[in-house]
Amino acid sequence: MEMQTQDQFMAEINRLKDSLARKDREIEKMKVNIFFLETLFDGIDEEIMVIDADFFIQDVNRVFLDQYGVKKEDVLGKKCHEITYQSDSPCIFGRRLCPLEKAKETGQRAEVTHQYKPEGGDLKELVRIMYPLAARGKMPKYFVEISRDVTEYRNLILKLKASEKKFRTILDTATDAILSIDANQKIVLFNNAAQQIFGYSRSEVLGKDLNMLVPPQYGNHSRFVKRFLEEKTPKVMGKTLPLTALRKGGQAFPMELGLSYYEMKGDITFTAIIRDISAQKQLEKSLLQSERLAAVGQTVAHVAHEIKNPLMIIGGFSHQIKKSLMEEKSIQKIEMILDEVTRLEKLVANLGDFTKEYTLMKRPADINSVIGDVLKLMGEIYPSGKCGFTVDLSPNLKEINCDPDKLKQVFINIIANGIEAMEAGGTITICTGKWSRGVEIRISDEGIGIGEEELDHIFEPFYTTRERGSGLGLSISYKIVAAHKGEISAESMLGQGTTFVIRLPAT
Ligand SMILES: Nc1ncnc2c1ncn2[C@@H]1O[C@H](COP(=O)(O)OP(=O)(O)OP(=O)(O)O)[C@@H](O)[C@H]1O
Ligand SMILES: [Mg+2]
Repeated sequence: MEMQTQDQFMAEINRLKDSLARKDREIEKMKVNIFFLETLFDGIDEEIMVIDADFFIQDVNRVFLDQYGVKKEDVLGKKCHEITYQSDSPCIFGRRLCPLEKAKETGQRAEVTHQYKPEGGDLKELVRIMYPLAARGKMPKYFVEISRDVTEYRNLILKLKASEKKFRTILDTATDAILSIDANQKIVLFNNAAQQIFGYSRSEVLGKDLNMLVPPQYGNHSRFVKRFLEEKTPKVMGKTLPLTALRKGGQAFPMELGLSYYEMKGDITFTAIIRDISAQKQLEKSLLQSERLAAVGQTVAHVAHEIKNPLMIIGGFSHQIKKSLMEEKSIQKIEMILDEVTRLEKLVANLGDFTKEYTLMKRPADINSVIGDVLKLMGEIYPSGKCGFTVDLSPNLKEINCDPDKLKQVFINIIANGIEAMEAGGTITICTGKWSRGVEIRISDEGIGIGEEELDHIFEPFYTTRERGSGLGLSISYKIVAAHKGEISAESMLGQGTTFVIRLPAT
């Protein structure tokens, strides 16, 4: 019995020992947990405060104490607004109340952002987040508020917005088109100038494939992008390339292209700066044209002068010889000589016209009646022609200050060319209308047309594709229009016909 009691006693002792050891381990564990929590609480870089539902502070972390320059014993048991805003009543942030009210009401996390200016300091922005602490299904008793200073973040955003605005302004005041594509060559940026130059609005192109702006002769543009992505060797980057692009409606125009790219976190963007050089090219062309005309003109004037006298002698003597000839065959030959002499004399006269510096005899004239005169003349030159005429004359054209006789020559040259181009017959259409600086005359035929290559040369002296043409008609016309400070140009489609457009200023 005694033994038994002793054994029981020992067992009891051992149980107690075990239980104590277990408790010790649990306490040890709790100590570790508390240590973790305290480290977290004090180690976190944000202000943390624990309050109860009546605003009384239960605990705060090191950052909080540093922030308000207080000691823990000064704040425990005080109301939070007494410490943070030195106020007797709960805070109001702008129109928003303290997040505690909302957290109490909803049992959920509540957040407010507010700005304030500490005395002598810069404007600060804080985000305060209130978390209710409650066992499941119970009313929360305590609340943790974590405050984050987002001033720097906010300043960064403001700076970003400002630089974005600056960037936008530059983009949209640039006179060159600026556009960007992503690696799938979808258009992601299209500035104002791009809208003007290409004729598309931003909404029509954003997200669309770049190929809509690339003329078909370059093939699919994606292979350039692909090659670049594979090789990453910027062959064309940073260089200016003369190329052609397409406007809305399919019209091609010459342009200069500058390319750049940037890569951010693996995303690549290509940016192109495009300058529309069509006006510049047009100017170069007409400058070249007038330079060529001037150079050729001097030589031609000289040659024409040298030919004139011998031609007069040949013509005069041939007439005399013809009178004394009896034999039919010889008479025929001398007549051929006389025909050719007449043709040459006409040419020399034309050459004279061509080389002459035009002194215009200007007076106010109605272009419609000038055209009427020309048509009468044409009727005499081509009496029963295969060609018809259609006219569409604008009834309310003002008179312009011009040399009507010289202009008649221009219209006759162009109409004659049109008739020559319509061997099988057709209609010449003449329209007049207003032009911003005066009047515009359009003369169209339905003839063989002019190829793109040829079109560059038709105004050059001696350029002709006709067996008996001198190639002077259009260069003389060009000079006459230029002397009027006007413009002349031709549009043509092979096999469909040609339209000449003449624009003459009012004064
Ligand atoms: N309406 C047209 N249709 C087709 N080709 C044209 C037309 N007008 C001009 N051309 C082309 O332009 C060339 C030059 O024309 P241009 O009037 O200067 O000379 P030409 O007609 O050949 O000779 P010229 O007028 O001196 O007798 C022509 O030879 C022709 O090839
Ligand atoms: Mg001609």
